Amino acid sequence: MNRANDEIKTRRKFLKMVSASPLLAGPGFLAGSFSSLLAAGEATDKKFIGWLDSLEQSDGVITSPDQAFDVMDFEPAARKILPPAHFGYLSTGVDDDGTARANREGYSRIQIRARRLVDVENIDMSVNLFGTKWNSPIVLSPVSAQKAFHPEGEVAVARAARAKGHLMMLSTVATSSIEDVTAAAGTPVWQQLYPTNVWEVSRAIVKRAEAAGSPAIVLTVDLQEGSNRETLFRSQLVDKRECSACHQSAYTGFARGRPRAGTGGFAAYAARKPMLNGLDLSNVTAVQPPNMNWDFVKRLRDTVTVKLLIKGIVTREDAQLAVEHGVDGLMVSNHGGRAEETLRPTIESLPEVIEGVSGKIPVIVDGGIRRGTDVFKALAFGASAVGIGRPHAWGLAAFGQPGVEAVLEILRRELRTIMRQAGTISVDKITRNYIVGRSS
Ligand code: FNR
Ligand code: LAC
Repeated sequence: MNRANDEIKTRRKFLKMVSASPLLAGPGFLAGSFSSLLAAGEATDKKFIGWLDSLEQSDGVITSPDQAFDVMDFEPAARKILPPAHFGYLSTGVDDDGTARANREGYSRIQIRARRLVDVENIDMSVNLFGTKWNSPIVLSPVSAQKAFHPEGEVAVARAARAKGHLMMLSTVATSSIEDVTAAAGTPVWQQLYPTNVWEVSRAIVKRAEAAGSPAIVLTVDLQEGSNRETLFRSQLVDKRECSACHQSAYTGFARGRPRAGTGGFAAYAARKPMLNGLDLSNVTAVQPPNMNWDFVKRLRDTVTVKLLIKGIVTREDAQLAVEHGVDGLMVSNHGGRAEETLRPTIESLPEVIEGVSGKIPVIVDGGIRRGTDVFKALAFGASAVGIGRPHAWGLAAFGQPGVEAVLEILRRELRTIMRQAGTISVDKITRNYIVGRSS
């Protein structure tokens, strides 16, 4: 969590050390460039010095999106601005948060084989998903309750997605309506589905999304009402605010443990979720019922007239079953390590799921993607696109729409860099030949 701070402090120390070094005090290229930089006469240099000053003032936490070097720089900025319980909700994994960490670590076990002497002047990062062209393979995974992170919530995310040309997936339990989000995105969004235990409610969500133009429904299947989100529970104990001033709800369907007490149950929870407004929720006891099985998928397949994807598949067997059930696409996901503590990174589940679908349907992967090189590795394994969850929520929390845009821009820039460096001019050129497992 403090990695970004530590790194910034190290950079700052390095700059100070270099500028003070007697070796560099005399004339010479490096000495000259640093002393002129720190003496700062020109406007651009001033901007750089100003940036250093603002870091000093803010104890290393970025204070505007343009100060970020990488997407991790947004995490401390989000932590600084959010109430502890909201930041706890955003960052929590389950049990020891081991799967959330594993998602990240999985990428460090894969190396890239860079090819040389390829003309990489023009890089094309576009992908085609179900006939729609996107100018980046990076999509916004569904993240619930985004008004807990910023007053403009999902609408700000949608505006950023529009500005940068990225696909957005909207959570069933979003705090903005699909109609508002679609208008802000300027194009239909994919609707993530928590079906609840009542079929009429599942159906109503699907039909409302279809009416809003959504070209895909994404059924999430990895939260069977059991996740033990200890980091969240601990953050709730630290938070001294009275939560019920904002949300009167004791509903804890996504998390089992010792959540802060509230009142009102599911109805109060649902009142803050536009997708559930106006529906008869009297028999709803769960957003994702524990008895959901492949028969449900069959029934849903018969109801959904647009594309149907399943999110949360991590094995070859389930990938094959999904294809047999007429599903149009999969998301390899462990909910960012928020579902159960398998300790298995999604990047290590991806190859078997790709095998399971045998090229019949597209596969998207999310979990722990923080670098352009991570995106590259996932594409090399055969993913059609990748999703990011927390990074865009950090950007949103810290700076609203410009924060989300900056997160997307940084990842795009990093992906472009590694595509150039590895000699792959378009996404279809990024194949398994470009990666190799690390032996240690
Ligand atoms: C999520 N995720 C999620 N998934 C989903 O299908 N429906 C949802 O409503 C949510 N809500 C949600 C809230 C928060 C705060 C987080 C962090 C995540 C999971 C999300 O779509 C995605 O799978 C992970 O976030 C990907 O991992 P990273 O990128 O966060 O590491
Ligand atoms: C979560 C649910 C809402 O991860 O998907 O909190």
